[in-house]
Amino acid sequence: MPKDPDIDLAACTDSRAPRGPRHVAIIMDGNGRWAEARGRPRLFGHHAGARRVREVVEACPDLNIEYLTIFAFSTENWKRTQTEVAGLMSLFRRYISKETRALAARNVRVRFIGDRVRLDQKLTQLMDQMELETAQMDGVNLTIALNYGGRDEVARATKRLAMDVANGKLDPADVNEETLPRYLDTHVLPDPDLVIRTSGEARISNFLLWQSAYSEYEFIDTLWPDFTAAELGQLCASFGRRDRRFGAVKT
Ligand code: FPP
Repeated sequence: MPKDPDIDLAACTDSRAPRGPRHVAIIMDGNGRWAEARGRPRLFGHHAGARRVREVVEACPDLNIEYLTIFAFSTENWKRTQTEVAGLMSLFRRYISKETRALAARNVRVRFIGDRVRLDQKLTQLMDQMELETAQMDGVNLTIALNYGGRDEVARATKRLAMDVANGKLDPADVNEETLPRYLDTHVLPDPDLVIRTSGEARISNFLLWQSAYSEYEFIDTLWPDFTAAELGQLCASFGRRDRRFGAVKT
């Protein structure tokens, strides 16, 4: 085939080279079963799970992951026993107090998504402080979903959007796929490229419903406290081999 001088073959090859996910979102499931298998209380599994978060965040720069979003507590998790909910809230407070400095030192910017109204004041203060103290960091963007539900997020966003319409700030004719996401908690984040759920369950459980419309999914058997940076690397490599068409036909 004759060479077309206008086509840069090297650039074409590059664009087809496997590319890892820029934004990875994780449903960290299986802490309870991991603990029960060891004859320990469920909270023991959550503490082990929290230690995994650090390893995974630290692996992101090497894997070229710019955004990592983790599901820490859902709007449905309040249905758990009072002991487990209180233990998780205490774990979040401890995690934030302990990790803020370490994350800032690693150039990680932390954001929280979810509804803060039901969270206690001590926890929300720590969340504000963590966001503030890491606000200047421009490495990995870690987003922690806490009291987060996709449906709740869309409902809250719709309420704010409706208020803007009522106040004359937004014309209903301008409500579309571009404007609505500006009201979501995730408005500063790109959509996730890859959503991982650990522990063998193959469901999305109200996580990033709007944002994951075109995400790739990986449902893996590993329980969250056993998840490793190496496994994340394998999933990223396999993502790079996927053919993402976003509804279009390959030309
Ligand atoms: C689901 O496992 C996990 C949770 C509801 C909590 C996730 C929390 C952590 C990983 C702890 C730390 C997070 C941060 C950000 C410090 P499960 O309890 O439903 O497990 P099971 O399905 O085996 O019962």
